[in-house]
Amino acid sequence: MLHNSTVDAQINHRSIRKFKDEVLNKEQLKTLYTVFQHTATSMFMQNASLLHVTDPEQKKKIQELGNQKYVGAEGDLFIFIVDLYRNQQIRQQLGKDDGRVHTTDIFFQAMEDTLLAFQNVANAVESMGLGYVPLGTVNDHPLEMLKTLNLPKFPVLGMQVGVPDQEPQLKPRLPLEYTCFEGSYKKDFDVKDLKDYDDVVTTYYDLRDANRRIDSFTKQITGKKLDNHETDRDQLPEELHKQGLCLDWK
Ligand SMILES: Cc1cc2nc3c(=O)[nH]c(=O)nc-3n(C[C@H](O)[C@H](O)[C@H](O)COP(=O)(O)O)c2cc1C
Repeated sequence: MLHNSTVDAQINHRSIRKFKDEVLNKEQLKTLYTVFQHTATSMFMQNASLLHVTDPEQKKKIQELGNQKYVGAEGDLFIFIVDLYRNQQIRQQLGKDDGRVHTTDIFFQAMEDTLLAFQNVANAVESMGLGYVPLGTVNDHPLEMLKTLNLPKFPVLGMQVGVPDQEPQLKPRLPLEYTCFEGSYKKDFDVKDLKDYDDVVTTYYDLRDANRRIDSFTKQITGKKLDNHETDRDQLPEELHKQGLCLDWK
């Protein structure tokens, strides 16, 4: 494969969960906002928004809701929002209150916009010698999070960014034959073939749990965490459904 500074940074990605006690300066912030702004956007709708959380009380609450001590602590906390609000306002205020920018299809497109913007910002963060961790926990208690952030629409991901204060191991990924296909998708999959990868995964030390090796990949996929149980995350599809964003087929 070829190497250049972008590719090398991308394949060296690792999530950072311990940051030095420094915040981003104005120039760094402006750079990240501008990268966010220039991300490709479906149908030019620009349906992603970015919120830099600056209020200490809000940060504390978000940390409690996600139950992860590095959230809202050292560094800077950002929330990536699937933003169907502004364009709906545009249509309403210009006399077209027909909900056409508030459908499942547009919601999907907004989600696509937001995730592309997330990764663009993430790459920029790493290119600046900084680190980040994505935060899916922003939706562990979705309704409480909306209230805390005073948002009209759901966040999809958070991102804690800062100057790394740890050097995690590179986390081993599935061999390419399981995730990248030439010509056609390979369906004849046998879990037994993952034995070698399972062994590799268990050699990884997760710094979240000092010096403890992690479960094999297949154990993680079959573990309790993914078993069926009720959580506040169930509020998310319920609320999206109420808003007409989830399965609004005719
Ligand atoms: C959508 C998404 C949500 C995530 N949410 C969290 C999170 O809430 N907390 C956390 O510590 N890591 C979170 N992660 C980071 C993953 O655990 C991490 O990317 C994965 O274990 C691979 O490790 P690496 O990023 O170091 O390569 C998230 C990653 C993604 C893509």
